[in-house]
Amino acid sequence: MAPTRKTDGDTSWFVHDRFGLFIHWGLYSMGARHEWLKHAEKIPNEVYDERYFKRFDPDLYDPEAWADACAGAGMKYFVITTKHHEGFCLWDSKHTEYKATRTPAQRDLLRPMVDAFRKRGIKIGLYHSIIDWHHPDYVLDNKNGPYREHPDREAMNGGRDQAKYAAYLHAQVKELLTDFGKIDIMWFDFSFPDKDAPDDFTRGKGHKAWKSPELLKMIRSLQPDIILDDRLDWPEGWDIKTPEQVQPREWVKVDGQPVVWEACQTFSGSWGYHRDEQTWRSLENLVHTLIDCVSKGGNLLLNVGPTARGEFDSRALDRLKGFGEWMRRHGRSIYGCTQAPAEFKTPQDCRLTYAPEKKRLYVHCLAWPYKAIHLDGFGGKVEYAQFLHDGSEIAMKMDDWHARQLGLAADTLTLNLPQVRPDVTVPVIELFLK
Ligand code: GLC
Repeated sequence: MAPTRKTDGDTSWFVHDRFGLFIHWGLYSMGARHEWLKHAEKIPNEVYDERYFKRFDPDLYDPEAWADACAGAGMKYFVITTKHHEGFCLWDSKHTEYKATRTPAQRDLLRPMVDAFRKRGIKIGLYHSIIDWHHPDYVLDNKNGPYREHPDREAMNGGRDQAKYAAYLHAQVKELLTDFGKIDIMWFDFSFPDKDAPDDFTRGKGHKAWKSPELLKMIRSLQPDIILDDRLDWPEGWDIKTPEQVQPREWVKVDGQPVVWEACQTFSGSWGYHRDEQTWRSLENLVHTLIDCVSKGGNLLLNVGPTARGEFDSRALDRLKGFGEWMRRHGRSIYGCTQAPAEFKTPQDCRLTYAPEKKRLYVHCLAWPYKAIHLDGFGGKVEYAQFLHDGSEIAMKMDDWHARQLGLAADTLTLNLPQVRPDVTVPVIELFLK
C-alpha cells in the first residue's frame, strides 16, 4: 500500500492511540432532544435563551469523574465542544457574553475539564463550531439555523457582516489556543459552500466565510504540532479525514492516497444528550466498530452527550465500562496497531489488525466459528498462537482426516478453537509471526 499522506500536524501519537472520546455538551443538553433542536424546531434566539441560557445549571458536573470514565474505557484522547452551532461557549471568552459564566453555572466549564483530562495523560482536543446560530454578525442563510425559512430573513440580514463574524471566530480560536496550554487537536465543524455562489453567504458558507487560509496560518503559528480536521473547506492544511455516522469500507483515501482518518460515531444517533432515544447500540456492536476502524488503519472517536446537570447518563457509563473491561485485556490488538499487510487475507467473520513493531497479527472473531479458523496463505508464517484474554495457547494444526475433507491447501493454517466461545465481548487471537 502507498504511504499515508504526510501531515503538517504531529499525528504519530494519534495513529498509535486509536480510541478517543467525543463530548457534546451545551445548552441543547437541556432540550435533551438532539443538539440541532434550535434548527429543527426553528426556535428564535429569545425563546432559546429564555428557556435554556437563563437556566443552564450543571450542578452535578464533575470533570474528574468524566476523565475517569474516559481513561477507564481505554480512550487516550478527548474532543470537547467548546462551542456548538447554537453559539454558546463553555469557557470564559473575552469576546462574548454568550458563555457559561453568564448562566447560573457562573463558571468556566472548560478549564477544569482540560485540567482533569490532562492530569490523566489524556490528549486534549477542542471541537469548535464555525457555524454560529447566535452571533449578531453571522449572515443568516437559507440552509441551516432557526431562521433559514423565516419570511423576514433578508431584512434581518441588514447590518450583519460575515467578515466581522470571521474576526470573532479567529479571535476565539486564538484565545483557545493561547490560554489552555498545549492543544493536541482542533476539530472544526462544518462548511457547506454553495458551489454556484461561493461569495453569497445567504446560500452557503465555505472557506471565504471563515477566511480559512488565514485561520490555518494563525493556528500553525500558535500550535505547530496540532492536528486539524478537514472541515474548513480548504484543500491544504488539514491532517485527518473525519467520516461521520458511517463506517468506511476500506482505508480512507484522498486522490487515491491513504490518509490519517478517524470515524466519529454516536451510541444512539444524537450527539447531544437525547433522553428519549431508544436506538442505543450494544457494547458488542460498538467494540466491533472500534476493531473495524483499526483494521482499516483508522481511529474511532466515540461520543457521549452529558446531561444538563453535568453527568454521563447510565447508558453511556455502562458502555464505557464495558469498553474498559474489553480494552484491559485486548488493548494490545488496538494500540499501535493498523491494517494487516495485504498478504494476510481476512478470514470469514473476522477482522485483522497488525502490530508492525512486534510483528504480531490479531484475529478478531466477530462470530464464533465451528471449532476452527482457516487462514489461507498463513502456512509457515506463524510461530505461535494464543488467545489474548487469557494467554492460553491455541493449537495450529488440523489432522489429515479433517483437512482432507475440506481440501485445505498446504499453505492454509488452521487454528483449533474451543467448542465454547470465550466469555469476552470479542475474542481475539494473537499470532506471533516468524
Ligand atoms: C455534524 C453536526 C453535529 C455534530 C458533528 C460531529 O456535522 O452538525 O451536530 O457535532 O457533526 O461530527
